[in-house]
Amino acid sequence: MKKVKIGIVGLGRLGKKHAENIAYKIPNAQLLAVCSIVKEEVEQIQRDWDIKYVYTNFDDMLKNKELDAIFIASPSNFHCEQIAKALEAGFHVFSEKPLGLYVDEVKSVQKIVNEHNNQIFMLGFMRRYDKSYAYAKQKIEEGIIGEPILIRCYGIDPASAMEGFIKFAKSNYSGGLFLDMAIHDFDLARWFLNSEAIKVWAIGGVYAHPVIKEINDIETGAALIQFENNKMGIFVSGRNSAHGYHVETEIIGTNGAIRIGSVPEKNLVEIFDSDGTRKECVGGFLERFEQAYLNEVEEFVDCIIQNRKPSVKVEDGVKSTIIAYACKKSFETGELVNIDQ
Ligand code: NAI
Repeated sequence: MKKVKIGIVGLGRLGKKHAENIAYKIPNAQLLAVCSIVKEEVEQIQRDWDIKYVYTNFDDMLKNKELDAIFIASPSNFHCEQIAKALEAGFHVFSEKPLGLYVDEVKSVQKIVNEHNNQIFMLGFMRRYDKSYAYAKQKIEEGIIGEPILIRCYGIDPASAMEGFIKFAKSNYSGGLFLDMAIHDFDLARWFLNSEAIKVWAIGGVYAHPVIKEINDIETGAALIQFENNKMGIFVSGRNSAHGYHVETEIIGTNGAIRIGSVPEKNLVEIFDSDGTRKECVGGFLERFEQAYLNEVEEFVDCIIQNRKPSVKVEDGVKSTIIAYACKKSFETGELVNIDQ
């Protein structure tokens, strides 16, 4: 079978993992080109993995007509512009989350995606491709908890990753805690509740790591969201989890509840030692969602081969950005923000 030839932009914390998956773990895909503004990054990958084309300029990569698809794992402020350019150059496109950082730019890019309906576009909400989240969704659709009415989400990065986060946040424009982190939970909320957000109130601050204030971000934030049909969402996001990477989700229904990862265990090992008995915590996003990152790219490649649409759509990127941006606005103004869909 013909392989889907992919060029990736961004070879940082996540981009390198995606590149490795495309190069070595997806039989129907070929990593034909890599691009980053950092010359050493592309040269190293070309040497180590024998990649045919390397670029330090995104526009140059788009001139390569051997490529079928462009994979975007650059900083979030480049996503909309790069998605538009890649679609207009005729490629299928995968973009990392968030779709964009501002409501205007995500609505404009949605229009461009819709105008290129014959090309595949997919957004990296990988949690939907995680085995546990997918299973929870299936159970909810089977009706085992009745009608879902409330979602409670925690998404907290490990304090041990602080140094890497500060570097990432300083050199990039991430959009801040709600657009960068909580966006995954906003997407899950829409997915599980099957409902759109109408009102948000968000608060937060910097408590243990003043350096986060210097980069104009929040260390821990909380949001309370009202969804259509009087459904509810409670969200906690942060960068300072002492015990490890804490991603936890609970969906409460009219007839029961489902929890995913309420104790974010690393594996099935239990340790009995002089500290007592304990289970270790999963260390970070690459470890917790390792399989989901692979599954979502497999889905993107399969969609191209089978000419079908992925279940994560540009609309999901638009709606989640609108919620995250409303949270940012609520935090900054101290006001309740109505969401105009
Ligand atoms: P990073 O800062 O580690 O890497 C960014 C990469 O893009 C670097 O290779 C950098 O040299 C390159 N780059 C920067 N500007 C560029 C430009 N103008 N043209 C080409 N290359 C450029 O960032 P990280 O953590 O890998 O994040 C990348 C994206 O992935 C972000 O949008 C982030 O939100 C998303 N992400 C998603 C996660 C998920 O769970 N789905 C987890 C982590 C990141």
